[in-house]
Amino acid sequence: MFFWSENKLNMSASQAKSDETLMGQARRLESIEPFHVMRIITRAMELQNSGTDIVNLAVGEPDFPTPKLIVDAAVKALRTDSMRYLPALGAEELREAISQWYQQRYGIDVPKRRIAVTTGSSGALLLTMGVLVSPGDKVIMSDPSYPCNRHFVSTMEGQSSLVPVGPDSNYQLTAELVEKNWTDHTVAVMVASPSNPTGTSIKLDVLRDIHRVVRAKGGTLIVDEIYHGITFGEDEMSALAFADDIFVINSFSKFFSMTGWRLGWAVVPDGFINSFEKLAQNLFISSPDVAQKAAVAAFHPETVHECEVYRSRYQEQRDFLLAELKDLGFKIPVDPTGAIYIYADCSEFSKDSFQFCQDLLEKAGVAIAPGLDFGVNRASEHVRFSYPKPIPVLTEGVKRMRKYLS
Ligand SMILES: Cc1ncc(COP(=O)(O)O)c(C=O)c1O
Repeated sequence: MFFWSENKLNMSASQAKSDETLMGQARRLESIEPFHVMRIITRAMELQNSGTDIVNLAVGEPDFPTPKLIVDAAVKALRTDSMRYLPALGAEELREAISQWYQQRYGIDVPKRRIAVTTGSSGALLLTMGVLVSPGDKVIMSDPSYPCNRHFVSTMEGQSSLVPVGPDSNYQLTAELVEKNWTDHTVAVMVASPSNPTGTSIKLDVLRDIHRVVRAKGGTLIVDEIYHGITFGEDEMSALAFADDIFVINSFSKFFSMTGWRLGWAVVPDGFINSFEKLAQNLFISSPDVAQKAAVAAFHPETVHECEVYRSRYQEQRDFLLAELKDLGFKIPVDPTGAIYIYADCSEFSKDSFQFCQDLLEKAGVAIAPGLDFGVNRASEHVRFSYPKPIPVLTEGVKRMRKYLS
């Protein structure tokens, strides 16, 4: 096990320099890493601005527009209402709509009072860590996993216990791993299913076993379901189906293609609602009014149909890129069954994935994310491909990589 906040990975020279000059900044910043992929993305933009065509598979967001009814609802709201603060836990109408979504989608009862609308799932994750983590507390999470999670924990002056996972457990935690890595300071376990960067899901019975261990230890389970809706050929069920003492995180960003609207939600266990609300009032006042009015239309059958069409496109894109990457020589021992990513072992080509990403960008015009962003477990041998792009763009990316790698 590895404690993230005790480590400081190599930063770029400019980052280190700017830290030196920022005398007086809070110590917690020492354990917060920048997104390494941002260096790739910034360079990709520079190249693009100077006329070089770049196939960008680095950014983790849908390529499709926000569905029509959502946009129409936003325009109507902007024309007819003044945009104001709303209750910290969200507009009643939207909380009710989310509650009904759980009923309609999974057949489970999630009362409106437990639903908190937040500024993206990022807001939900920050507030969740805010109510669960005291200085020195530890939160178990898999390595690799979504980078911001460990930084939400550091912001609360806790530590992430990064547990290396691999193909044998579908790149996910198991009850045994949680049990083995639990310490007296551990207060929570965080999982994401499907996961960023691996695109793999955690089976409901495995999640149930993890929950059992966490409860027996007196801790709390947090389940990030932000990529629900973007799964291929597997049964999708919320963790709320088997327990109501779990924090479940979700978002309008991915399935509903609304990254820029900054809207998500948390389903909060009963005992924590008041604390969650108090913190939300103080940190955010409320989530954006226009986004909340628009998001009610996300659950309209016409919108859901549009998003299901997007889902089938994602599947085509995944199928295409997965086969091509394997053919190129990337090792992908577990096929991703959801999210919008392929996590690939690039050791055949390089043992320094960051350098590999830089070279691929400079010499082949393809931008991808280095493993370093997602943890330390064999990070230098892995890269992440984000595939929401039209097939002709993916085809061009593969063509360039084939030429470069050969
Ligand atoms: C696993 C995971 N959780 C949470 C987020 C945050 O997303 P948002 O704040 O847009 O809902 C992301 C974004 O990529 C993610 O991959």
